[in-house]
Amino acid sequence: MGDKYLNLVNSGITKDLAKRLGLPRPAHLRRYHPGAPLVTGPVLVVGKGAGADAAASTLLDWNLDVRRHSGPKEKLGAIVLALDAIEHPDDLAAPVLETGAALKGLQPGGRVISISRPATAGDPTAVAAARQGVDGLLRSIAHELRGGATGNGILLTDGVDAAATSVTGALRFFLSGRSAYVDGQFLLVGSGKGSVPTDWERPLAGQVAVVTGAARGIGAAIARTLRRDGADVVVVDVPAAGDHLADVANEIGGTALQLDITADDAGQRILDHALGRYGRLDIVIHNAGITRDKLLANMDESKWNSVLAVNVAAQLRINEQLMSSGGFNKSPRIVSLASTSGIAGNRGQTNYAASKAAVIGMVRATAPLLANQDGTINAVAPGFIETEMTARMPLATREVARRLNSLQQGGRPADVAETVAFLAGSSAGGISGQVLRVCGQNLVGA
Ligand code: NAI
Repeated sequence: MGDKYLNLVNSGITKDLAKRLGLPRPAHLRRYHPGAPLVTGPVLVVGKGAGADAAASTLLDWNLDVRRHSGPKEKLGAIVLALDAIEHPDDLAAPVLETGAALKGLQPGGRVISISRPATAGDPTAVAAARQGVDGLLRSIAHELRGGATGNGILLTDGVDAAATSVTGALRFFLSGRSAYVDGQFLLVGSGKGSVPTDWERPLAGQVAVVTGAARGIGAAIARTLRRDGADVVVVDVPAAGDHLADVANEIGGTALQLDITADDAGQRILDHALGRYGRLDIVIHNAGITRDKLLANMDESKWNSVLAVNVAAQLRINEQLMSSGGFNKSPRIVSLASTSGIAGNRGQTNYAASKAAVIGMVRATAPLLANQDGTINAVAPGFIETEMTARMPLATREVARRLNSLQQGGRPADVAETVAFLAGSSAGGISGQVLRVCGQNLVGA
């Protein structure tokens, strides 16, 4: 499952050769590990107004080296581009060009993070134009960055202050190695309540989480990451995967629940297990998913029905049972695995893409239902992830698919897991109904 090419172009003679031949040169990404510094150098805050001041003060609270102006040839760990006060496209020039001048000093694994407001139909026309301009700008910056650096944006809904907890949470996530494979994406922060964890290294301490499809792959990585972040974890998978499931449960000191999530009473059984063992349930990660690929012309009823049943119908049923139970009502968090196939469509995957797009629709419509109990629900859409599934792809197809993104490499299950863990945390309380892609800014469906 390793990417041998990535290692080759980062070592010795083959590094020089790849450079001379103009071949793709994916960089080793800066990934999080407990104790890792949040950023690798000073953070430049560009722009004027409340967003810039709030960001600078938050960064100072984290003991980072903050600059409001960049010196010549300064090496930077990150650039925060605050554009929340812009009212006309003309307002973009000064802060954006200042950012451009600083980009050459951005270190490998660096970050560019914009803070702005989304354009809405009710905005004055020039304001809407300026705000929407940030979308094309940030995504283009992300395409231009090299050395494993990424660019992402935070969008503040009207009425949401740049100092809000979830803005802080999103800023920290985008700065850190937790977001290594998230690139060219925006997170919309709404008015939902969040809280800052007492320990940013163990943000899920005291929480109880359930992860479906956790016997292997991305689900097992999610279970490990939630545990590392402090949660008690219940891992769920079908009885046929029981041995692997027990291994994961033992490894993380969690408990295993053998369950087919399409069972009529799956939600109740999940709740009974969590309440019985731990006395509470805070987080549910709908990760279990299957593919049964066929061109639609050759699709049969069983392939269609099984994919829709596991990938979305089961989630709808489980959510309904949990939400009506009264046992899952204190700031609950739900995160569902979607896919870039559900956004862009994919040949041979009408059933899978329909199910994953359906997850996105489900998440949007469920968000308001959870809002009055300070709950959130979000989707994570992975792109090309190095798993057993993608390792089985033909070599040439795999090699092309893996490079078709700004970071020129596949992501790891742990990259998806970090994003899921962030959305499951208390600091993401203002983020709900969203889809966050973990795809290295994949060109597919961008
Ligand atoms: P995987 O096939 O390695 O693991 C899926 C797990 O779900 C397996 O352990 C399986 O036994 C379990 N499962 C399947 N049906 C179940 C059921 N009815 N009840 C309980 N458990 C069940 O898959 P992988 O690659 O780890 O993917 C995890 C999720 O991420 C899936 O939802 C997938 O669609 C999504 N995804 C994966 C991508 C990738 O590149 N691998 C890309 C985009 C999305």
